[in-house]
Amino acid sequence: MEKYVIKGGTPLVGEVEIGGAKNAALAILAAATMSDETVFIDNMPDASDTNAMLQAIASNGAFVERVSRHSVKINASQIRNFTFENEFIKKIRASYYLLGATLGKHKSAGVVLPGGCEIGLRPIDQHIKGFTALGATLNTEHGIIYANADKLVGAHIYLDVVSVGATINIMMAAAMAEGKTIIENAAKEPHVVDIANFLNSMGANVKGAGTDVIRIRGVEHLHGTEYTIIPDQIEAGTFMMAAAATKGDVTIKNVIPKHLESISAKLVEMGCQIHESDDEVRVVATKRLQNTHVKTLPYPGYPTDMQPQITTALGLASGVSIVTESIFENRFKYVDELTRMGASIKVEGSTAIIEGVDKYTGATVSAPDLRAGAALVIAALTAEGFSTVEDIKYIERGYEDFEVKLRELGACIEKVNDDKEVQKFKLKNA
Ligand code: EPZ
Repeated sequence: MEKYVIKGGTPLVGEVEIGGAKNAALAILAAATMSDETVFIDNMPDASDTNAMLQAIASNGAFVERVSRHSVKINASQIRNFTFENEFIKKIRASYYLLGATLGKHKSAGVVLPGGCEIGLRPIDQHIKGFTALGATLNTEHGIIYANADKLVGAHIYLDVVSVGATINIMMAAAMAEGKTIIENAAKEPHVVDIANFLNSMGANVKGAGTDVIRIRGVEHLHGTEYTIIPDQIEAGTFMMAAAATKGDVTIKNVIPKHLESISAKLVEMGCQIHESDDEVRVVATKRLQNTHVKTLPYPGYPTDMQPQITTALGLASGVSIVTESIFENRFKYVDELTRMGASIKVEGSTAIIEGVDKYTGATVSAPDLRAGAALVIAALTAEGFSTVEDIKYIERGYEDFEVKLRELGACIEKVNDDKEVQKFKLKNA
């Protein structure tokens, strides 16, 4: 099983290029199947989740040509099987995007239900509420959720929860429904806007994305397009937090600073210097971080996907910090691992009370989920001595070349296959 081995203590210094947004790509790849013409997508991350989505649509008959590592051509006109239950789709949680896209286009769809998840229950009742409002009948059999409709008719849908997935899924189905759909209490994340822009580039009529009211006028046909995915807000934030935690000086390139405002604001509160230009953010942290308090919120609030990373950095700050997770009910599991590296954090329900310590010490830890895994790598980069981070498959679901990019910033990190290679790394870097 592959793992990262890390020798901590080196401040990250230099420049890092951010890739395309994984969570935008997953929805855009699903939405690309709504056209019978060829769609060209650029700035796509080469991560296991996005690769699984491509394999899933190809497995059901779509033409998929990887033009380069970060660009792909898709033509879904030959898809005849509207039920996605192949081995690839079972690997990703965002498989439900194929339900909205296929229901919108073919008025009939089936997707294997997304599995459980490490960070919380992840219900899809709001997705179902939206599809039902548009006129679909939903039923679940043998672990597959089916959605069928004679026709889809626009509706006025009020989301009970601000849900990124439900907002995007309903938007896709409504894009090819008859008439007008209004989604109230919609999510405003950058990737919600990206999918709306992508759909509009195919001839859809989606207005208001990025606000909490999205208005969609259905169209009968979506044509081909060429589209470039936005930079990944969370990959960028992860490197910003790594720069802060290691007291480094890192310029994060190919970003949209506006998308990072809540993260930059917190880093300034923690004593970092932030320098922004039109597509770069530079983080300089020369002294010990200061404590602050954080509550995760839907965009433009502080992102839940950046909660493990800031908790890890605050674990080294002076003073006591409080982090409240308001989106998911079980997103502090990694704290047990961080404690083994010397953190002093008490989790009470959805709140972590963090007493800053002077340092972490290296240990062997296991990544419980994607973002927590990245946070444990950040902890190891600061730690005294050697660490091994196991179960890195979670990290590679959403981060392309994570250890390569960190090494280019001066980190002493390698991806190895077994304990023999861990020992070799330790001898080489003793
Ligand atoms: C997306 O998940 C992201 N995943 C998550 O990123 C991210 O943490 C989350 O949005 C919040 O920003 C993808 O985009 C593939 P939600 P999603 O629906 O859409 C509740 C990562 O690390 N809810 O916005 O599933 C839900 O339980 C991943 O890249 C319902 O109650 O999140 C949660 O408490 C982790 N009913 C809250 O809403 C529903 O029908 C927000 O979930 C849907 C959601």
